[in-house]
Amino acid sequence: MTVDAVRVELGARAYEVRIGPGLIARAGSEIAPLLRRPKVAILTDETVAGLHLDPFRQALAEAGIASSALALPAGEATKGWPQFARAVEWLLEEKVERRDVVVALGGGVIGDLAGFAAAVLRRGVRFVQVPTTLLAQVDSSVGGKTGINTAQGKNLVGAFHQPSLVLADIGVLETLPPRDFRAGYGEVVKYGLLGDVDFYEWLEEAGPRLATDAEARQRAVRRSVEMKAEIVARDETEEGDRALLNLGHTFCHALEKATGYSDRLLHGEGVAIGCALAFELSQRLGLCAQEAPSRLRAHLRAMGMKVDLRDIPGDLPSAEALLALMAQDKKVVDGKLRFILARGIGQAFVADDVPGDVVHTLLEDAIASR
Ligand code: NAD
Ligand code: GLY
Repeated sequence: MTVDAVRVELGARAYEVRIGPGLIARAGSEIAPLLRRPKVAILTDETVAGLHLDPFRQALAEAGIASSALALPAGEATKGWPQFARAVEWLLEEKVERRDVVVALGGGVIGDLAGFAAAVLRRGVRFVQVPTTLLAQVDSSVGGKTGINTAQGKNLVGAFHQPSLVLADIGVLETLPPRDFRAGYGEVVKYGLLGDVDFYEWLEEAGPRLATDAEARQRAVRRSVEMKAEIVARDETEEGDRALLNLGHTFCHALEKATGYSDRLLHGEGVAIGCALAFELSQRLGLCAQEAPSRLRAHLRAMGMKVDLRDIPGDLPSAEALLALMAQDKKVVDGKLRFILARGIGQAFVADDVPGDVVHTLLEDAIASR
């Protein structure tokens, strides 16, 4: 299998997302052209460090690149002020200079945190994303959204800071626990739902074998990245179309907050449930046929994914409380909730005028069916 390259066209800040097997093993030669001196600082998490840090550093060493690494605890709780401060101070102690490159080796948590650290360190240093989860390969490593969570909500503090290169080694996904793989699939299916019905149809057939079929996995990652790259090139800072990438996310962010960003609900699981709710909402508003949410639910079930609120263990707040959490969402404009709705599979659009009572009833019904 060869390596695919998808370019994110952002003028002087354009970069490539390289997707394929063996990219960790050749990381040194991939990254070397970016370096002004043969040295990088790597941020990772403890789980990824145990599995992939040594081969990664070895590959750098083979190209004559020295490296130092900091492994933070694995998990969403790391993406907050304390570990962020620790990472930034470590980068300063490592004497990372303005012209150096920081490497994020890990999933979306490490990518978002390391990207934000690179954005603020010495007013901005370059960084390379080496995403190791399916979610990070298809979504979080591309497009330059970086940041951390605070007590007030998710991703409320951050910066747009584009990586200089993304190396998505599809081989590293083989060590990913099945639950994390399925969670990442929530973001993959999102791309089909938002803008490519042919891709969605292919996923209905190929989805169940992505974890074991490397060729299919590479195709799924490539198509997802192509779609994201195209949207980001059109609307880097989310003035318009980029909001489409948030299909399912208004619901997802409220559910993640309600479950305390815990193991009860992973981000990609929340995205899948959120997509199912967004299609249900679209159907209730008369925008799409009943077939669309039913078909989506059937596919998510076939993939062994969480689909409905009843799939989230433990108690959930009332419909009112969930609506209040949605109002905290960054996508609130002039106090109005913005939803991504759909006229059918592959036909999403941004809606700013969704009646609150319809959303409320939808949530009440979803809670009642638990
Ligand atoms: P994660 O980074 O926590 O990774 C999930 C788990 O998998 C962790 O325990 C990690 O240690 C482990 N892991 C990572 N790679 C592994 C591998 N190859 N083998 C075995 N274990 C591995 O979570 P995630 O799902 O990758 O990312 C979620 C985060 O991404 C959330 O914070 C979300 O907000 C963010 N996100 C950001 C964007 C963006 O555009 N910046 C987009 C989507 C999601
Ligand atoms: N994951 C949403 C975005 O990158 O805009």
